[in-house]
Amino acid sequence: MKKALVIGSLNMDMTVKVEELPKLGETIFGNDFYESCGGKGANQAVAVSKLGMKTEMIGMVGKDSQGEKLIQNLNKYGIISDNVIKSDELTGRAIITVDRKGDNNIIVIPGSNFKITKEHIQDKQDVIASSDVVILQNEIPADTVEFSLLKAKELGKITIFNPAPARKLSEKVFKNTDYLILNETEMEEIFEIEFNDKEYTEKISSKKKEYGIKNIILTLGDKGSILFSEDNSIKKYGVYKVKAVDTTAAGDSFIGAFTMKICETGNPDEAIKYATAVSAIVVTRQGAQDSIPTREEIEKFIEENK
Ligand code: RIB
Repeated sequence: MKKALVIGSLNMDMTVKVEELPKLGETIFGNDFYESCGGKGANQAVAVSKLGMKTEMIGMVGKDSQGEKLIQNLNKYGIISDNVIKSDELTGRAIITVDRKGDNNIIVIPGSNFKITKEHIQDKQDVIASSDVVILQNEIPADTVEFSLLKAKELGKITIFNPAPARKLSEKVFKNTDYLILNETEMEEIFEIEFNDKEYTEKISSKKKEYGIKNIILTLGDKGSILFSEDNSIKKYGVYKVKAVDTTAAGDSFIGAFTMKICETGNPDEAIKYATAVSAIVVTRQGAQDSIPTREEIEKFIEENK
C-alpha cells in the first residue's frame, strides 16, 4: 500500500460564525462559536487518510491539552503520529470567522509549528524514505519546507507543495516540487500575477517555465481550477453547484484528494476531477476535518451529480 507523508502544521481552530465579516473598526455579534482540530497540514493528512491511503504526519505541537487533542485526533483518523513532536511552545491556533455564505478569513498563531527545524527533518529521513508522496504547506518555517522538499526529491518521492499562507519563496523550492497547488491570492502574492490580468494564464505559464515548476494547479474557489501541465498544456475545470455553509478546509481536502488519486492513477486530470467533487462536499458541511467525506460518500455524490 502506498504511503503519504505530510510535513506541516497542526492548529486548534476557534471558529466564530457571523452574518457578515466585520469591517475595519466595526464591532459585531457572532451567532455561534466552536473549537475544532485544524491546521493545513493536519487537515490534508486527515483527507488523505479518510480516502483510504496509509498516512503519516511529521509536525510539532505544544505540551498542552490542545496539542494532546490534536494528536488524539490524528490517531482517531488512523494517521501515524509517532513523529509529531511535543515542544515547550504553545500549540498553534487559528482564529476563523465564517459568514453566512460560508466565506471565511483566518488568522494563524503558529506557536510550536514554527519550532520545527530542518534538523528535525534530517533526523526523520527514514520516514521520508518509507513514503511515496510528501505533502508540504507554508505554516512551518520556510527553510524547513525547503529542506523537506529537497530531501523528498533526493529520495525520489512525489512532492506536492501548497504555499499557503503565501510568502516569498526560494527558487529551490519550486525545482523540488512536482505539483504546486495554490489559489489566486497566493498566485498574486508569490508571483505578482493579478487575477484580472488579461494575460493571466499566459503569465502563469511563463513563470512556470522560468522557475522550472513541473505542474501548477491553480484553485479558484467557485470558479473552478486550472492545470498547467508538465507538457505545457493548460486545462480548465469547472465546479459542482452546491450551497456553501463553510469553505474552511476546502483547499486542504482538494489537496488530500488530489494526492490520493495521483498516487492511485498517476493521472492529474482524473485527480483534479475527483478532488473537485471532494471539496464540493466539504463546503456544504461545517468545520475542517470532520467535513471531509469518505470514499463511499464521494462516489455517491459523483454519481448523483453526473
Ligand atoms: O485551511 C484551513 C486551515 O487553515 C484551518 O484549519 C486553520 O488551522 C489554518 O491552518
